[in-house]
Amino acid sequence: MKHLYVANWKMNMTYAQSIDFCIQNKGQLHALANTANIILCPSFLAIAPIIEILKDTNIKIGAQNCSEHQAGSYTGEISAQSLSESSATYCIIGHSERRIYFEETTEIVIKKMNLLYANNITPIICIGETKEDFLQQKTKAVLEQQLESILQTAVYHQYNHIIIAYEPFWAIGTGIIPEAEYLEDIFSWLHIIAQPYIEHKIIQFLYGGSVNSKNIHQLKTIEHIDGFLIGGASVDFEELRKIITL
Ligand code: PGA
Repeated sequence: MKHLYVANWKMNMTYAQSIDFCIQNKGQLHALANTANIILCPSFLAIAPIIEILKDTNIKIGAQNCSEHQAGSYTGEISAQSLSESSATYCIIGHSERRIYFEETTEIVIKKMNLLYANNITPIICIGETKEDFLQQKTKAVLEQQLESILQTAVYHQYNHIIIAYEPFWAIGTGIIPEAEYLEDIFSWLHIIAQPYIEHKIIQFLYGGSVNSKNIHQLKTIEHIDGFLIGGASVDFEELRKIITL
């Protein structure tokens, strides 16, 4: 299976910069999307215009978040239905920055997941442990707790495609990535605990946290990593191109 690359632009690119990135690099993005699965996640405002700019390419567009509510008086929120109407087909949920700064719990992540599936949007669900959990060797316990109810809900509703991004909080934006043996262990374990789900549906596991053109070669050799969630390095087209092609 081709690797999946998800570019999480966060609030690192403005509306104009996001549009410009796509206009300037459209031809190369089109070529890259023939050999890899690529999802760009700009800010909400840029979603619709970018879908229009890249409409004749295989690049997919996702959001970085959505409301946990279906509709109603939630000033400033964006619903899954609105995302769907704007033709976004993916949405990141449970990102560590949302868990830390916006108190997004697994319960909220599940509400968002259900709304996204109801609107034909595939969620990219982030899980990960803090540095403290890591140092106390609690990673698997934390990940299992985050994943358990997500997978149970997905099985119950028979969702047919699920993307899980493992992002250690301490690797995000720090330039530090875990040791290869550590990642081998975590991803083969994730594969085992997701087995009941894997048997019936498609589940993809991504790694995220300080992915760049210098460490990608090693990361690509790790078994059971189906792709990458890329933050800082994804706003530089040349860097993104190298990550995809190296
Ligand atoms: P980073 O971010 O690549 O800048 O570490 C990854 C993410 O937050 O998804």
